[in-house]
Amino acid sequence: MIGNSRRYALKASLSAGAIVLLDGLGCQSAEEVDLASVASSPLSRPVFIATWPFGLAACEKSQRTLTQGGSLLDAVEYGINLTELDPKVSSVGVGGLPNADGVVQLDASIMDGQRQRAGSVAALEGFANPISVARRVMESTRHVMLVGQDAAAFAQASGFESQELLTEESRQAWEKWRSNQAGKSIGEKTHDTIALLGVNRDGQVAGGCSTSGLAFKLPGRVGDSPLIGSGMYVDGEVGAAGATGVGENVLRYCGSFLIVEYMRQGMSPTEACISAIRRIATGDRKSPAELSVNFIAINKRGQIGAAGTDREFRCAVVEQQRSLLITPHMVTS
Ligand code: GLY
Repeated sequence: MIGNSRRYALKASLSAGAIVLLDGLGCQSAEEVDLASVASSPLSRPVFIATWPFGLAACEKSQRTLTQGGSLLDAVEYGINLTELDPKVSSVGVGGLPNADGVVQLDASIMDGQRQRAGSVAALEGFANPISVARRVMESTRHVMLVGQDAAAFAQASGFESQELLTEESRQAWEKWRSNQAGKSIGEKTHDTIALLGVNRDGQVAGGCSTSGLAFKLPGRVGDSPLIGSGMYVDGEVGAAGATGVGENVLRYCGSFLIVEYMRQGMSPTEACISAIRRIATGDRKSPAELSVNFIAINKRGQIGAAGTDREFRCAVVEQQRSLLITPHMVTS
């Protein structure tokens, strides 16, 4: 609830808004704060912001990576790796819910604001860390995006180890869906993508995004997360934005690019996120509550912002000395 300053011994959290205390991911405790209390002026850089409470462990990993001498891109990649490897997060990496055929297909993208470089993979099967494969695409090819079997072949040739991503829990969820719900709409409430954005001490900006996409999606379906400008966008002169929610509702509006452009025009990160949601709602002639679109943003000065339409949406922020769990601005009408 906005306004609380409860303290959570938060290790990670699963989807659907429930705060779940888990051991073993090495997080410090996090303070739950009002967005208004932290979004009005820049935080002390370096700053990382990520979607969902499970993004807290990722942001803390990012901060540690910088402290230990890693680059900003390392920080983004290794932070997201942590979530990708956590089998309890059922919407990213290992343990991600599969497509309608029972196969886990992953999407990810990464961007470097220093040189406006980007890399992404879509519908990647059998590799636990799609964000790392996306970074390899960015750094070792002249391309931006690889998809499907060819992305997997690239990952294999680049030395990434393949593995089974479907956990027993995810398999059982798929079996249940198949027997009970096949033919009905797909699981809209199981799309808790991690988007993670960072600004270092010098004001350099980078970001990444990783997801298993909508649960039980059509095989080959690609959402917003790997599409540069939709699920995530970075502009080194301005800042970055990232999305979680129903990808189809974000990618038709290049949601993250839109937010960065709003910030370029002078809006604060939160104002930019709210404006993007309103623009999507207006374009779709729907109320925001029907959309399931949620955004985070940061400008290069270290000012953060977030807004969403899902009541359970939360984001995590780690600045120099503080770990924060934030209730974003809810856009309801
Ligand atoms: N936002 C993740 C997806 O729709 O795939």
